Amino acid sequence: MYNKKTVKDIDVSGKKVFLRCDFNVPLDENGEIIDDIRIRGALPTIRYLLENNASIILCSHLGRPKGKVNPKMSLKPVAAALEEFLHIKVPMAADINGPIAQMMANGIKPGQVMLLENIRFRPEEEANDPEFAKSLASMADIFVNDAFGTAHRAHATTAGIADYLPSVSGFLIDTEVKAMGRAMNNPQHPFVAILGGSKVSEKLKLIEKLLMEKCDTVLVVGAMSYTFRKALGGNIGNSLYEESMVEEMGKLMERAKEQGCNLLLPVDNVVADKFANDADIKVVPAGQIPDGYAGMDIGPATAEMYARIIESARTVVWNGPAGVFEMPNFAHGTETIAEAVAKVRGVSIIGGGDSAAAIAKMGYSRYVTHISTGGGASLNFLQGNVLPGIACLDDKE
Ligand code: 3PG
Repeated sequence: MYNKKTVKDIDVSGKKVFLRCDFNVPLDENGEIIDDIRIRGALPTIRYLLENNASIILCSHLGRPKGKVNPKMSLKPVAAALEEFLHIKVPMAADINGPIAQMMANGIKPGQVMLLENIRFRPEEEANDPEFAKSLASMADIFVNDAFGTAHRAHATTAGIADYLPSVSGFLIDTEVKAMGRAMNNPQHPFVAILGGSKVSEKLKLIEKLLMEKCDTVLVVGAMSYTFRKALGGNIGNSLYEESMVEEMGKLMERAKEQGCNLLLPVDNVVADKFANDADIKVVPAGQIPDGYAGMDIGPATAEMYARIIESARTVVWNGPAGVFEMPNFAHGTETIAEAVAKVRGVSIIGGGDSAAAIAKMGYSRYVTHISTGGGASLNFLQGNVLPGIACLDDKE
């Protein structure tokens, strides 16, 4: 059972808080933030700490700079966004745990914040180096982890630092875990999962768990469906698929059939002769994709069939888009699913990443129960893995 302390379970007044967030936001070529859901997700914890007389040393990674300073992955745009949201100064410490950062941390007063530069500019972060974690911990009195999106990583500031400080969660982690935990542990039925994305290998455990233990129906969408189709002997043309998973998927479908589990594959596909919106486009039955064409979306018959199943569900979990929804000609499947999920009269959980971006793009965010800020983290959580960034936090007595 989830039993971790939150910021509300400790006295933060007058304390310095090391607050790990996940500000790993997408940036455009001009360094502008494209989607700020992760920044907004951290605001309740930041505001609570400031209102309760704490000072905050904010920390996050951005991208994968591989332990080297990379100005393109600086957190400067995040500091600017935070200043706008919070209406206070957010000074940055470029040297992370160096003398300037230490001096700034010594000087901050209750109600003030500072932001460390991208923590992954230092190789010790991903190596979970204990000395590095200890020196960061020495700047603060309390560790608060609110980086749900990074909770599946055991890094110095997501897990290691908890060895040196009282450690609790922020509101974002608490909300994420409770919302997804409720859906997985105590779902109302019918429980329908929509699983897509490109790599079936990354989602195999989740598919098995949902299909065999939890759901009434699993709807397969997106590029992963071509691996299933291949296993059934269909022609998938030039569609993306995972050769190494074909046999495994064949076995999984057999087991699902034996156990009476309802696994549905698309019955038709939108296919194209090149990976472009202006390609030659056709709708063909699934498993009959001509050579020279690749699947780009589920077809209209599939979209309609899936929408009816989704709308009559009482619990829905959606992870992975139905097609290349960034291109308008291949967005219909994902849009239809997003609309159906928004109509669910019950609990709807969006498992982060591309599906979250899709539902936001279509303006349906406020009609769903919970949109996770974690891609990999939500996948790990939903499949029942222990997340190091949460396991390291103090338990409630
Ligand atoms: C994410 O975007 O999923 C998280 O920020 C974790 O990033 P990572 O996959 O680079 O560890």
